[in-house]
Amino acid sequence: MPIPIKNAEGIRCMRESCTIAANVLARMKEQVRPGITTYDLDQIGREIIASFGARSACYGYKLHSSAYPAYTCISVNEEVVHGIGSLKRILRPGDIVSLDVVVEYNGYIGDNATTVPVGPIESAVAELLRISEAALDLGIKQAQVGNRIGDISHAVQAHVEAHGFSVVREMVGHGVGRSMHEEPQIPNFGRKNSGDKIKPGMTLAIEPMVNLGRHHVRTLSDHWTIVTADKSPSAHFEHTVLTTDSGPEILTLASPTFPPLSKP
Ligand code: MF3
Ligand code: CO
Repeated sequence: MPIPIKNAEGIRCMRESCTIAANVLARMKEQVRPGITTYDLDQIGREIIASFGARSACYGYKLHSSAYPAYTCISVNEEVVHGIGSLKRILRPGDIVSLDVVVEYNGYIGDNATTVPVGPIESAVAELLRISEAALDLGIKQAQVGNRIGDISHAVQAHVEAHGFSVVREMVGHGVGRSMHEEPQIPNFGRKNSGDKIKPGMTLAIEPMVNLGRHHVRTLSDHWTIVTADKSPSAHFEHTVLTTDSGPEILTLASPTFPPLSKP
């Protein structure tokens, strides 16, 4: 399957869905505090998504036989991705929480994630967050027309491993557009100058998943939540990026003035 190239109309729609996804994420992030449950955070996400006239692309999503039961993915500490909000999971100081927001608007999907500290956290965990976010930035910088997908993968892996952390192998970044997961797959490990050539008009969800300990993961009995096998904390940062002749453009950027006020 070829990698979809978006035309001007597709890009306009991607800008909208990605802007919404980014602003939902920014507002959820403001609600993270000790004492809140991950269920309540997910419900806040559900309400904000609806207030922007969008739809959660996670709710009901099927990767396998069981449909995803929540509106956003909320993953605490050793949970890597796809955590399901629960009334039993109360955030406490020292936790880290990954929020992953995927919305559909006018038939196009925007996808982004971030990991935030809950109160004060251990310095090694703070470094995990810094390095993981920097790895995302370095991966994005490689999303240049003429480069290959492996250049993104390599940049992420090199930065993470240089700081003694590990990248998850089982889950990957991906093209995103009318579907949440399109070609190409974007692993967080790989070789320079390998994989598909990057062309203008690709929309790519780049998403390092980084473990403080070893890279191995397993799936909980809820069929969704991915956790580190060694129970070490894990971080996850994600942006949807448009490739252009003048370089990568991050589409999932939030603005304090979103949504634009309607004119009187
Ligand atoms: N950002 C995640 C991904 O790209 C979102 C998954 S949503 C879920 O896979 F529905 F699968 F949970
Ligand atoms: Co994604």
